[in-house]
Amino acid sequence: MSVHAQWSTRLAFMLAAIGSAVGLGNVWKFPYITGENGGGAFVLVYLLCIALIGIPVMIAEVMLGRRAQRSPISTMQVLAKEQGASGFWQIVGWSGVFAGFLILSFYSVIAGWAMAYVIESASGTFNAISGDGSGDVFGGLIGDPQRLMIWHTLFMIMTVAVVARGIRAGIEKLVVILMPLLLVMLLILVAYAFNSGEFGRGLAYLFSFDFSKLSTDSIIVAMGHAFFTLSLGMGAIMVYGSYMQKNTSIGSSVLMIAIADTVVALLAGLAIFPLVFANGLEPGAGPGLVFVTLPTAFGAMPGGQFFGTVFFVLLVIAAWSSAISLVEPAVAWLSERDIMSRAKASWMIGLFSWILGIGTVLSFNLWSGDEYKVMGKTFFDLKDYLASNIMLPLGGLLIALFVGWAAKASMSKDELNLSSGTFNLFWLAIRFVAPLGVAIIFLNAVGLL
Ligand code: TRP
Repeated sequence: MSVHAQWSTRLAFMLAAIGSAVGLGNVWKFPYITGENGGGAFVLVYLLCIALIGIPVMIAEVMLGRRAQRSPISTMQVLAKEQGASGFWQIVGWSGVFAGFLILSFYSVIAGWAMAYVIESASGTFNAISGDGSGDVFGGLIGDPQRLMIWHTLFMIMTVAVVARGIRAGIEKLVVILMPLLLVMLLILVAYAFNSGEFGRGLAYLFSFDFSKLSTDSIIVAMGHAFFTLSLGMGAIMVYGSYMQKNTSIGSSVLMIAIADTVVALLAGLAIFPLVFANGLEPGAGPGLVFVTLPTAFGAMPGGQFFGTVFFVLLVIAAWSSAISLVEPAVAWLSERDIMSRAKASWMIGLFSWILGIGTVLSFNLWSGDEYKVMGKTFFDLKDYLASNIMLPLGGLLIALFVGWAAKASMSKDELNLSSGTFNLFWLAIRFVAPLGVAIIFLNAVGLL
């Protein structure tokens, strides 16, 4: 087995993990699913899921990776053995690799939209555009499989090229440059929305809790999104944890990562909804929200061409630093077993995901008709629903059960190094709160509760 790599500093780990967490999930998905699920009450459920389920599961993932210093598949194998548990637990690693494929195969297509939109905004397409006109621009893009394929291909190459270079020369180098840039751009946009949008209405929309709008499916979506946005349940954070130094504190690192991710999602909401309302647009527009509604808003405002371009560049950056973590678990596994070089493994995994992504591309045009839908969902919707709302929470549930029940308490005590009060809090969360939370939401969704 080849020697396992390490981040060069704690900051590098933090930036990589924040880079993974902050992505399309925060800037594209969070605003549109919040809009679809009626605003405030949905946001509250999402925040509760982050605090009560997401943070404990993230601590568990980082801890497992760091203890074993291996890919997620081998981590689960080795630790199950060490803790005297069944070999069954490696299923967590395998399902993670599969979920990573699925997610990347639509992630890359949506990131491709964002890339196309950088060019559109920079060239002034949206200046003074009408709502219908903006809808036509978006419809023209997603209706054109060839254009989508070009961007999907380009984004996949960008992603693989970074992962192929390895932890320090690839991933670390990228996030050290991109993350500070992302923060600056986000602050610029929020300041802009603060000055030119209906900030108060945006704020009220995100934080006024109207529980009548909350359905069972909304609750599942909120929980699924908590996993998605924190990159949990498939081994991405586990593999990043495996490159972490032994002497860094896991608890405080995870807390900062989760807070950063949540703040970015809320800031993105505060950058987007005020503009939507100021221009009399609809928050419930679905996946097109930031691609149709928002450009109309930018197009109507002074400086909109510049700020709109900044917005889409930010979206591409966020997506890029996340996509690399979707490939890493599989690549780490292939390269640690000396089955093939890291570079070869990266290109191969990217190729598989790219092929699966052709289905995503087609689900917006040639396969968008009802005859291609399963349970009312297109191939894209189906992959997103299966991966985000089912596989990730299930992966998280298993991780919580492994740490809280299958493994000994001494493992967590050794790794986490917490004061006894804080440790008990973690222990309560990982044994009871997180697993029961996921289970109750699942049972509720299938009508058993
Ligand atoms: N967290 C990212 C986002 O919000 C997406 C992502 C990256 C992800 N790696 C992951 C989601 C691993 C689930 C699992 O856009």
